[in-house]
Amino acid sequence: MKKSSSAKLRFADRLVEWHARSGRHDLPWQNTRDPYLIWISEIMLQQTQVKTVIPYFARFIASFPTVGSLAQADENEVLAHWSGLGYYARGRNLLKAARIIATEHGGTFPRAFDAICALPGVGRSTASAISAFAFDEKRAILDGNVKRVLSRCFGIEGYPGEKKVEVRLWALAEELLPDSSDRIKAYTQAQMDLGATVCLRSRPLCAGCPCSRVCVANREKRIDEFPGRKPRRKIPSRTTAMLILISHSEVLLERRPPSGIWGGLWCFPEFGVDEDSVAKARALYGVRGASGPHLTPIKHGFTHFNLKINPHIVQARRRDPRAAQPGQIWIGVDDALKAAIPAPVRRLLQNLAPLLQKINVD
Ligand code: ADE
Repeated sequence: MKKSSSAKLRFADRLVEWHARSGRHDLPWQNTRDPYLIWISEIMLQQTQVKTVIPYFARFIASFPTVGSLAQADENEVLAHWSGLGYYARGRNLLKAARIIATEHGGTFPRAFDAICALPGVGRSTASAISAFAFDEKRAILDGNVKRVLSRCFGIEGYPGEKKVEVRLWALAEELLPDSSDRIKAYTQAQMDLGATVCLRSRPLCAGCPCSRVCVANREKRIDEFPGRKPRRKIPSRTTAMLILISHSEVLLERRPPSGIWGGLWCFPEFGVDEDSVAKARALYGVRGASGPHLTPIKHGFTHFNLKINPHIVQARRRDPRAAQPGQIWIGVDDALKAAIPAPVRRLLQNLAPLLQKINVD
């Protein structure tokens, strides 16, 4: 495609020069060509900030240093390493993809772009980042940060989640690639770093931006207008109740079905907000108990709805049958905090811990 303006012509140069001076050079997944490590980092970074990812990445690769070791891991073990990062489908997809690499690619991370794209959880932008960082392939990336940088710099109107805007941004991202693949790693990292450290969502630091003089949003003082906002839709709210069944200082957790919200993670059993917790404990688990102390409800935001969770403590009476069915476990709070649990269950366990001392347990 023909490059039409000098802003476009010089974009890659500006970013690469800026990155040499002001970009990030020692993140734990940089300075490696190992596609496995790069892949893990890119998946973790898909919806999560660098500072959050760093300790998760370190623990993950310490436990699963190679694609082969990941392929052999148990899903539970992988999800335990994901606990608190959110978007757990990413963890499940990593495991699926590692098994595909083991069986279909002889245990070697594929180099062909189409094969990388075909791995579960790897979209076009992630595949491009892996190809650029591991194999020096000249491929365009377009994650949320890059969409913001490009829409501001080149004045691309409209919401980037809308198909026609996204198609335009991809075409632009392709057009802006540096001529030589020698610079693709620096250019790719520069776009990510510029979006994360300078071209911030709110109050961007335009004084430190290598594109400030050509940036349409900056020149026209319309920074707040780019990228275009998502057409507003009210996010619905839901309320659920969770049963915190306590016996011998342990709580009952259930493994959720593999797909759906918190798929495969360990949770407190959910029940209807209008149901009685003591009756529910008896009906479902054969546990006779009494209502325990009050635990404050918590709120959790998902992309498509907000969830309010009303926790109900039920203390099992002495010598109640505590047989756990498959997919259920009685577990101490400290051990539960190390298991594959979603963030709200973690918060409930943390709120519960100080109360446990007060609860009369035998
Ligand atoms: N966001 C996505 N990929 C990244 C990377 N490799 N470094 C920093 N931030 C990122």
